[in-house]
Amino acid sequence: MPRKDVIWLDKKTKLKDLSGKTYIVTGANSGVGLETARQIVKQGGHVVMACRRVDASEEVAQSFRDLKGSYDVMKLDLADLQSVRDFVAEFLKKYDRLDGLVCNAGLMTMGKEPQRTKDGLELTIAVSYFGHFLLTELLIDILKKSAPSRMVILSSVIHAGTPKNRYKVHLEDLNYNNRKFSNMGAYGEAKVATVLYAMELGRRLEGTRVTAYSVHPGWARSNFGKGGGTFAMRFLLKSVNFIMASATNSNEESAQTSLHCLLSDDAPNHSGAYFSQQSVLYRDKECKKGGWPLESPNPNAKDMETAKKLVEVSYKIVGLKN
Ligand SMILES: NC(=O)c1ccc[n+]([C@@H]2O[C@H](COP(=O)([O-])OP(=O)(O)OC[C@H]3O[C@@H](n4cnc5c(N)ncnc54)[C@H](OP(=O)(O)O)[C@@H]3O)[C@@H](O)[C@H]2O)c1
Repeated sequence: MPRKDVIWLDKKTKLKDLSGKTYIVTGANSGVGLETARQIVKQGGHVVMACRRVDASEEVAQSFRDLKGSYDVMKLDLADLQSVRDFVAEFLKKYDRLDGLVCNAGLMTMGKEPQRTKDGLELTIAVSYFGHFLLTELLIDILKKSAPSRMVILSSVIHAGTPKNRYKVHLEDLNYNNRKFSNMGAYGEAKVATVLYAMELGRRLEGTRVTAYSVHPGWARSNFGKGGGTFAMRFLLKSVNFIMASATNSNEESAQTSLHCLLSDDAPNHSGAYFSQQSVLYRDKECKKGGWPLESPNPNAKDMETAKKLVEVSYKIVGLKN
């Protein structure tokens, strides 16, 4: 049943003709990313579905066949920095414009120990943040060339933590090499990083007509958390989703905030800001209604000096020259 308190796209945004425009959506084969891509194609845009499982993505994209726009599935594994570089090289060979980049893919690992990528990064932050960081930095020139253009990165309500325990980025050890690991902690920190990155991009790109946003999509009934972990953990997650069905959002509802940031006339007035769907999961009462934009209740996700340092450290970690 649709929730009454969901924030929906306004009619004008929903009816915009996106013919001739090109967008990239990462993780577009599932959940929020799939519905984000579907709406763009519905409105006549062209979506590059940047996914790690090409066959599965081709299969779900069949449902776009009768829509006005078009799509292309391209391989991208955000847990592998070389795959990000290969994707960008291929994209730039095929396309000469990019109107919007939606850094949507994400995961939360389930084990007790950090899982490592080929590059030695902790997997949760590698996919949610570092892979998207490299992708965005390598695509900034084409975004500038195609301006006005936009970048949207998915965060989460979890980034807010609780009034007693606010997540923060540990600049000295972003990849849990020398500190105790927790799945939720790693996810919360990765999502603080995405809020800070959008904020830093908003500042850095001022005057270029390229704008950036971070997003909490809502509590999506997606495939999130269904892929990994033990049977017991997957069962627990499924049960929580079932019991909390009335508090959760459909994937279409959960795509609204990304689409607002990507397409609305108003979003560019708030470049760098955090946008949120309603969520019962905020521990700060005033945030539960969400907001486009919403001031994050987490002071660690609002500090520009930390954001700048995060970007400096990230350049080194992904092997880019600053
Ligand atoms: N679900 C929620 O309630 C919720 C709440 C707050 C924020 N979010 C955020 O919303 C975003 C979308 O999540 P969702 O709920 O739609 O979950 P989902 O259905 O699990 O979709 C996640 C997508 O990320 C992709 N992905 C995972 N690892 C990847 C990698 N190494 N390289 C490329 N793609 C990768 C997945 O690909 P595969 O299909 O191949 O696994 C999938 O397409 C995520 O950033 C998540 O953190 C979700």
